[in-house]
Parts: sequence; structure tokens; C-alpha cells
Amino acid sequence: MIQIETYQDEYFEEIITLLVSSFESKFCHRQSLSVIDIKNLLSILWDLSAKDESLLHFVAKEEDKIVGDILIQCDKPHKNKGQQRIPLYDLIRKYGFFNMMLLIYKLGILEVFKHDNCYIEHIAVDETMRGRGIGDMLLSHAEAALKERGCSSLSLAVAKENPARHLYIRKNFKEVQYLNSRFKGYFLGINEWILMKKSLN
Ligand SMILES: CC(C)(COP(=O)(O)OP(=O)(O)OC[C@H]1O[C@@H](n2cnc3c(N)ncnc32)[C@H](O)[C@@H]1OP(=O)(O)O)[C@@H](O)C(=O)NCCC(=O)NCCS
Repeated sequence: MIQIETYQDEYFEEIITLLVSSFESKFCHRQSLSVIDIKNLLSILWDLSAKDESLLHFVAKEEDKIVGDILIQCDKPHKNKGQQRIPLYDLIRKYGFFNMMLLIYKLGILEVFKHDNCYIEHIAVDETMRGRGIGDMLLSHAEAALKERGCSSLSLAVAKENPARHLYIRKNFKEVQYLNSRFKGYFLGINEWILMKKSLN
């Protein structure tokens, strides 16, 4: 049975594994790093905390295994964010300057957070569990929590060809902007993106 729970810091490594496998083509695009290198780097670079009140973060669990994850930025990023000490020099020596900068850049390239609006940073479900309603459950749970928090709208960016669009349309997200960016194409391997938005009122 699938249960939706609030994210806890002890889930960090499992979430990284889920995200890297779900977004492997984007993480690996133009990057001469192995999947293991990318996971190692993310676990050092990603300043994710269950205590961060600017985020809403839920996981889907089947027994003890994490099978889905949704992360929503609700307010401006936490003011202490980014203050952890990152051993940049050592990382650059190990993984190379270009790989490091590219990965850091990719992590921020699709951020379209606006102050009047909550934004889905990511949603992902384990590849073997897709199509069984877990993505829908994560979205419904997050929307209920957002309403309780007084948020009036929720937005996201999705690649034009991503079948996830069907899920968002079914959940009443509307397409509000089309982006055709060679710049994003260069860094992520996908030029065409759609911004979608849903009113929570
Ligand atoms: C998008 C995603 C989270 C949906 O999770 P899910 O548990 O499969 O979603 P549900 O079962 O609730 O709904 C399935 C819907 O998602 C769409 N979908 C997208 N990818 C799918 C996949 N690989 N298998 C089945 N359905 C998929 C289907 O079109 C379906 O819509 P429909 O029921 O209207 O036909 C999941 O497919 C995923 O992790 N994809 C890879 C990461 C990703 O692209 N995330 C979205 C970034 S914007």
C-alpha cells in the first residue's frame, strides 16, 4: 500500500537515487560524469533540509521503500540556504571545473519561482511504479497542504514532449507559456518547455 509522508532528512540518499534515475538524460547531458559521480556530487552540493520552511516536501512510500517524491518551493529560499561549506577546490580537482559548473548551473536553470506563486521543483516516481496513480496522489496531497498554507496557485515547467503533461492536464493545470530556448537545449538537451499553472482557490 502506498502512503504519502512528509520528507525526513534520513531519506536524502534515496531521494537522490530516485531523482538521478528519473532525470538521468538531463543530468548526464554534456556531462562526462558517471551516474555514481552525479549522485556523489548532488549529495554534497544539494542543501536540502526537512526543516526548511520555504519548502513543502512529500515522499510516497511502499512499505519502507521510497517510490515517489514531490518538492515545492513556496516562499523565497531559506535565508541560511547555501551557507554549508562546500569543498569546491577538492571537488573541482576530482570531477573537473566544467563538470562542476555545468551541474551547478543545471540545478538552477529551470527555476521560475515567483513570489506570488508556489512552484514544483520536481516530481518523480520510481520507473517500475509509474502509471499506477502515485504521481496523482503526490500532487493531490501537496495541493491540499498548499491550500492549508494559504497558497493561491501552483506552477511547474515541463518538457513539451514529456508524457507527464497528461497528468498535469488531468489535474487541471493550464498551459500559460511556451519557451523555445536553444540555451536550455544546450544545457539540458531539450529546447521546448511549457510553463503550467493551476489556481488553488
Ligand atoms: C511524471 C510522473 C511523476 C508521473 O507519475 P505516475 O505515478 O506515473 O503518475 P500517475 O500514475 O498518477 O499518472 C500517470 C500519468 O502520467 C503520465 N506519465 C508520464 N510518464 C509516464 C510513465 N512513464 N508511465 C506511465 N504514465 C506516465 C501518463 O500519461 C498518465 O497520464 P494519464 O493517466 O492521463 O494517461 C512519472 O512519470 C515520472 O517520474 N516521470 C519521470 C520524471 C518526470 O518527468 N517528472 C516530471 C517533470 S515535469
